[in-house]
Amino acid sequence: MTGARRQVLVIGIGAGNPRHVTLEAVEAIHRLDVVFIPDKGEEKRELATLRHDILRAHADNGRLRVVTYAVPKRRAEGDYGGAVDDWHATIAGIHERLLMDEAGEGDVAGFLVWGDPSLYDSTLRILERVAARGRVAPQVEVIAGITAVQALTAAHQTTLNEIGRPVTITTGRRLAEDIGKADSTVVMLDGAKAFRDADPDLDIFWGAYLGTPDEILISGRLGDVSDEIVRVREEARARHGWIMDTYLLKRRGKE
Ligand SMILES: C[S@@+](CC[C@H](N)C(=O)[O-])C[C@H]1O[C@@H](n2cnc3c(N)ncnc32)[C@H](O)[C@@H]1O
Repeated sequence: MTGARRQVLVIGIGAGNPRHVTLEAVEAIHRLDVVFIPDKGEEKRELATLRHDILRAHADNGRLRVVTYAVPKRRAEGDYGGAVDDWHATIAGIHERLLMDEAGEGDVAGFLVWGDPSLYDSTLRILERVAARGRVAPQVEVIAGITAVQALTAAHQTTLNEIGRPVTITTGRRLAEDIGKADSTVVMLDGAKAFRDADPDLDIFWGAYLGTPDEILISGRLGDVSDEIVRVREEARARHGWIMDTYLLKRRGKE
């Protein structure tokens, strides 16, 4: 790897409950000299606030600098893959600049990642792009976090998989294609309420704002609770200005 070496901790901070932050994550935060916090605009302000709350609670090393950076919006038009690729290239340029200009050679820099860095998060992919550009050589350590999936199953006191059976984790965009692939299907990033088109005889375990004081849980036979979820979801989204929800679909009676 070429370029200026920078130590980078990618720290999973859990899915919304400050108590999701593991002891390992707390130790990692203590090691940081600088932390980079994305600003994704007004909509996600509450999420940024949570990151700042976590830092206030755990960052007591007396030297931590907090650097906020604006995240550009992804292009909505055109093909999805191309838009994501361009967006990641732009963010890689921003991360490169942050690591060059805001962190010194002996510094430990950090990104606080919602949930766990392995699940529907591109921080690690973007750091690979930064390395490939050649100006900065990030030395990456990953600290695991509690995902929204774990927060969901714990809140519903249910299991993710049937005994010895596989699980699909997918997005709302792909649900129609992926639903038959396993007995259990977890759906994330579903702004389009794709569950409305799934088999009404499935069981759904739905959760919004998991781990936060605003957590909402609904479960039951999909055909019986689908309209209620749509209504509750719309009301909550209007009230907060944003929503994050995740759900698990399972064959009925397969618990
Ligand atoms: C970009 S993904 C990030 C996932 C995260 N890395 C994780 O490990 O959970 C964002 C999606 O995660 C889910 N999610 C994250 N936090 C959540 C929460 N507190 N309540 C419900 N869903 C959540 C939602 O499906 C949301 O659209």
